[in-house]
Amino acid sequence: MLQRLDKILSNSGRLTRSQARDALKAGRVAVYGETVRDGAAKFDPETAPVTLDGAPVAGGTVVLLLNKPAGYVTATRDSRFPTVMDLLPSVYRRRVVPVGRLDKDTRGLLILTDDGDFAHRMLAPKSHVWKLYEAELDGPVGPEERERFREGISIGDRICLPAELYLPEGKPSSLVRVRIREGKFHQVKRMFGAVGREVTALKRLR
Ligand code: URA
Repeated sequence: MLQRLDKILSNSGRLTRSQARDALKAGRVAVYGETVRDGAAKFDPETAPVTLDGAPVAGGTVVLLLNKPAGYVTATRDSRFPTVMDLLPSVYRRRVVPVGRLDKDTRGLLILTDDGDFAHRMLAPKSHVWKLYEAELDGPVGPEERERFREGISIGDRICLPAELYLPEGKPSSLVRVRIREGKFHQVKRMFGAVGREVTALKRLR
């Protein structure tokens, strides 16, 4: 339900009514990143990102888990293709940004958030957040490739951190899962490319 901005501020428990009035007048309050001075302006306190001196005072933080279909680029805007933002309810569109990136043809789990600290923790190389993918390949891979992934495979300009390749029942297969803890450009596709396989479909599961 929409509420006056001065009410949202005083309801937050951070400011009294007169402090809220002063903060608004001083231009210290922003909604959707833009300064709002009018205390009578109405917003939804559940979703509108209200900040005081840049720090959130209402709306909490948002973390969205999107099951991304193929055909959408992971970007906030693109001149040629639809973006993942087009898939979101409009209240979130100006609020969240994607955490990392999936290729246009990759499906599956994409996180979007307005929580900068959380995004940083998920993406920082030293956090080593594991990502699990299901890959369809143009031919089978087996125990030999699993060993090469474990050792850290070279993808041209760099050597990947050890990754785990899961073979159904331990047998060679062209439908496999792979778990990596870094996220370089086209990483999974390049890893399979390094063992002579092409990824024909890719989905992030976790
Ligand atoms: N690795 C890739 O090659 N593509 C993705 O979209 C994600 C990981």
